[in-house]
Amino acid sequence: MKTYRIAVIAGDGIGPDVLAEGIKILETVARMDGTFSFEFTHFPWGCEYYLKEGRMMPEDGMDILKQFDAIYLGAVGFPGVPDHISLRELLLVIRKGFDEYVNVRPVKLLKGAPCPLANVKREDIDMVVIRENSEGEYSGEGEWLNKGTPEEVVHQTGVFTRKGCERIMRYAFDLARKEGKSVTSVSKANALNYSMVFWDQIFHEISKEYPEVETHEYLVDAAACHFVRDPGRFQVVVTSNLFGDILTDLGAAIAGGMGLAAGANLNPERKYPSMFEPIHGSAPDIAGTGAANPMASIWSASQMLDFFGYENYGKLVIDAIEDVLVEKKHLSPELGGNAKTNEVGDAVQEKVAARMQHR
Ligand SMILES: NC(=O)c1ccc[n+]([C@@H]2O[C@H](COP(=O)([O-])OP(=O)(O)OC[C@H]3O[C@@H](n4cnc5c(N)ncnc54)[C@H](O)[C@@H]3O)[C@@H](O)[C@H]2O)c1
Repeated sequence: MKTYRIAVIAGDGIGPDVLAEGIKILETVARMDGTFSFEFTHFPWGCEYYLKEGRMMPEDGMDILKQFDAIYLGAVGFPGVPDHISLRELLLVIRKGFDEYVNVRPVKLLKGAPCPLANVKREDIDMVVIRENSEGEYSGEGEWLNKGTPEEVVHQTGVFTRKGCERIMRYAFDLARKEGKSVTSVSKANALNYSMVFWDQIFHEISKEYPEVETHEYLVDAAACHFVRDPGRFQVVVTSNLFGDILTDLGAAIAGGMGLAAGANLNPERKYPSMFEPIHGSAPDIAGTGAANPMASIWSASQMLDFFGYENYGKLVIDAIEDVLVEKKHLSPELGGNAKTNEVGDAVQEKVAARMQHR
């Protein structure tokens, strides 16, 4: 029997609550399939750890994680620890250190999920954003000069490499070709005269390798407008680290809310473990209330199933989430219900089990 070893970093705030529900689903799928299993190892890293140890994870944290098949992450960040520390010293270290250069963020309006847009059909919101995840605006390069003086100045450098741009674009084109979809590049070459001119140039070069794939290009401001006015024009979207981060929160807003937005950080070559997480943060405003919606975390578990080659189960889990959304009996407050995080998880688990029984 194949056993997948998963490192669990539940993190802060609502992280542990939503992750527990995703684990429940993965265990149910594996148990009912019977040919594989999961072994979860929990690491107490995050802001609480930082306040005790002075660091977000131990010095040999990456060596420890390297031995796992995947990482399942809740959320990090909590009042008391500056956000740039919690993000940069854990999440970004993992994404960069394990060369998880592809961030796959589906923006799909599931059946039964609320949508704030008027005159948009459910089928019109069905895209996947392929966000560059290893460099760009989040490279961490820059300098802080003349600190504390009237001449103070900061430089935040975006780093775009040919290798980095080519590989993320090829990933997007390969996906689009496999699924018979178009690719849309989102950039901002009118204002960013080095990085985004370069990005556009490479997009044109790579698109020539895929003559059968339809392409579109938008400036990020126009893309944001179209996300709201006409989301049906997007299928596979490829964009930079910063633009992808912002656009996918907008994507979450049009597709059911933060509690329904998942993301996979992939190292496609599988040299290092990939990491699966809901895209939302630790939501300190609702932490400890049981109001967190675990569906994003369950969705990211379904992405993990996809990545391990169980696409049929990945889809089954999404279908089970849809069952719960359509039934409307066990919804979290964010979606207008009053079910607790674990009750939503139980409801999805029940639907998964029912669907697996009738396979
Ligand atoms: N991947 C990550 O670990 C990650 C991502 C974003 C933010 N953060 C961190 O999280 C902390 C809070 O950030 P924020 O408030 O800007 O973003 P957030 O995503 O935590 O919360 C934004 C809003 O969405 C709501 N929300 C989020 N997830 C929800 C869920 N599952 N169910 C119901 N409602 C949900 C919250 O209650 C809040 O009102 C900060 O410390 C930030 O740095 C971490």
